[in-house]
Amino acid sequence: METWRGSVLVLLLLSLSLGILAHGESGGRKHGYHSYSRSCPQAERIIRDTLSKHAGWDRTIPAGVLRLHFHDCFVDVSSFTRFKFWFSNFAVLQGCDGSILLDSTPTDGTKVEKLSLPNFMSARGFEVIEEAKQRLEAACPGVVSCADTLAIAARDSTVMLGGKYYQVPTGRYDGRVSSQERGNTLPSPFGDASALIQNFKERGLSVQDLVVLSGGHTLGTAGCATFSNRLDNFTKTGKPDPTINPRYLSHLRRQCPAPGSPNRVALDKGSEFVFDNSYHKNLARRNGVLTSDQVLNEDSRTSHYVKNFAHKQHDFLSQFAASMVKMGYIGWKNKHNGEIRRVCSMVNTH
Ligand code: HEM
Ligand SMILES: *[C@@H]1O[C@H](CO)[C@@H](O)[C@H](O)[C@H]1NC(C)=O
Repeated sequence: METWRGSVLVLLLLSLSLGILAHGESGGRKHGYHSYSRSCPQAERIIRDTLSKHAGWDRTIPAGVLRLHFHDCFVDVSSFTRFKFWFSNFAVLQGCDGSILLDSTPTDGTKVEKLSLPNFMSARGFEVIEEAKQRLEAACPGVVSCADTLAIAARDSTVMLGGKYYQVPTGRYDGRVSSQERGNTLPSPFGDASALIQNFKERGLSVQDLVVLSGGHTLGTAGCATFSNRLDNFTKTGKPDPTINPRYLSHLRRQCPAPGSPNRVALDKGSEFVFDNSYHKNLARRNGVLTSDQVLNEDSRTSHYVKNFAHKQHDFLSQFAASMVKMGYIGWKNKHNGEIRRVCSMVNTH
């Protein structure tokens, strides 16, 4: 009896500390924050210039790059390394480690994150990060990680279109793992508020962070397949989603006459190239595109944030900067569990 109790206690303590370790490793703020001002003073300028050049050719690039960083940060590990207990649920996070940038290698046959459903054919902007990295390697070889390059480029993508500047904490190392399966742990556009809140919570982010960061949809577009289920026979009711503004519904139907239509629709009606609070204003008028956008205005846990940001542009812009910094800490890797990749699409060969 005593031994039985003893081993249960030991097991509990062990799992608790494992959980805390896993959590501390991912959500912790005690990593080696540093800036590249000494080790590579040109780094931020190189990244900004490369981004501007590409955005000059294609003005939809900033949206693609911002989304890449979000997707890099939000992948979770596969279920077998997840610690699940009755008293808690610790997820070991893959995090902002450049894993989304890796290509599959023909030799080991791994299928990478890039190929997962949320990324395949829609994740964009890889060439910007790859070119910035090439120029960084020429200026300061082996110093700037791909994960940091992406985090900085994402910040610059928002700033160049009107977002607030913030300093990006740097010193993340690049991961050596990327998996297609893990890519599917990204939040679903068909999710309700509870699912979104839970997904963010598992990554150490609050309900406010969810509403703030969803404001990334002030930029960019979505393909018809990601929301056409709202236009007719929504959840088998035989009717469209009642939370779509009727006038906007006819606009969306024209854009997407069939679920497979190749068209893309601005996530922020009328303002997809300006980083502003117009996304939240649109949600308040029921002009949201994705289910996961509009539910933020319909659920009482999130709607007051939507209202506030719709009224106060300044609140949204400064909160967005703060929440991006917070998101950027997810799964922070160091020299013991990461490396500084030489080429962002390939892990280093030793
Ligand atoms: C809250 C959960 C989220 C869901 C379910 C979600 C889902 C989606 C979907 C389905 C698309 C359209 C993809 C396509 O059809 O090509 C999209 C686009 C986009 N997302 Fe999100 N997203 C979320 C949060 C975020 C966050 C936090 C950010 C950045 C901070 C972000 C930035 C973007 C951007 C910029 C685009 C446009 C990309 C482009 O134009 O290529 N999203 N998102
Ligand atoms: C909606 O979908 C359900 C299930 O697929 C189907 O039984 C129903 O007939 C549909 N209603 C309409 C109006 O298309």
